[in-house]
Amino acid sequence: MPTPEHTVIRALLAHPTGWVSGGDLAKKLGVSRVAVWQYFEKLRAAGFELESQRSQGYRLLAPPPQPHAALIETQLKIRPRGFSLTVLDEIDSTNDEAARQLAAGRPAPFAIVARRQTKARGRLGRPWHSPANGNLYISFAFRPQIEPARMTPFTLWMGLNLCELIANATPLKPGLKWPNDLLFDGRKAGGLLTEARIDADQIRDLVFGLGLNLNSPASTWPGDLGQRAVSLAELIGVPVDFNRFTAAVIGRVLLAYQRFLDGDHVKTFADLWHRFEVLRGQHVTVLEGTARHPGTVIGVDDDGALLLKNSRGRTQRFRAGEVTLEKPKTI
Ligand code: BTN
Repeated sequence: MPTPEHTVIRALLAHPTGWVSGGDLAKKLGVSRVAVWQYFEKLRAAGFELESQRSQGYRLLAPPPQPHAALIETQLKIRPRGFSLTVLDEIDSTNDEAARQLAAGRPAPFAIVARRQTKARGRLGRPWHSPANGNLYISFAFRPQIEPARMTPFTLWMGLNLCELIANATPLKPGLKWPNDLLFDGRKAGGLLTEARIDADQIRDLVFGLGLNLNSPASTWPGDLGQRAVSLAELIGVPVDFNRFTAAVIGRVLLAYQRFLDGDHVKTFADLWHRFEVLRGQHVTVLEGTARHPGTVIGVDDDGALLLKNSRGRTQRFRAGEVTLEKPKTI
């Protein structure tokens, strides 16, 4: 249900270089001009850069660099029935918050975006650096009610969809490193974390989390992250419009989720995999617990498991593990 805030934002976005008349908006909303002025002041306080002129009205100079729920919602291209969005200033982990809200009965699907996280997690419980620096921290909550075995390629499928979204929206060439890293020229800009709660033989709750470095400035990473991590803005050379990009991510994830549930992903999975995966033909070591398995990556199977050919020519299959690229040996 659009609120007056959505209507005001929609008017601003519809006139990106022009003016929005306060009088026209007042008529449309059935409120006074003072009330319209208050809506604009609220947007200004939320970080919208606005110009106002008595004779012309208002115009948008720059959108807020931080998450803004109504601005994201206004820019959503699809809106599946029942979807809702929450934007938080700070939370321990958007994945944890989504799981708590699912457990409390909030209708799914929904997404939670936070400006910063204080206890964000990556795979294997590793911390995910999440200051308020214009990066995207988002978790999607679903209730798929399907057998766990059907979910196995889910994270890869989502990663491939995000790669395609970024490839279409930017001049960049994203790569997906099995099982959950979004890479650009070998540096990591994003990570995916899927967590499920299983009831009997059904997936009851599913939380899909994405951390994507959109706008963190170069050289602000702690420790040695600077060599391994990168943001899209660093690569493109201009800031990414946080809220527009987030709306595009939400639209793509919701669509990809529906296609996955419908079994539609099988048609395009292989094509996307060949376009975006970065490991095929590479010499790697898969770390599985404490066991190290060197070999050459052949691909993935229908379940999303990694296939490796070892030095004896035997194919090994890994459903989980940590992949390290081996440097080519020089003579
Ligand atoms: C990884 O590369 O290991 C996955 C990182 C996933 C981080 C995201 S940020 C949003 C969501 N909340 C979390 O606590 N983790 C995920």
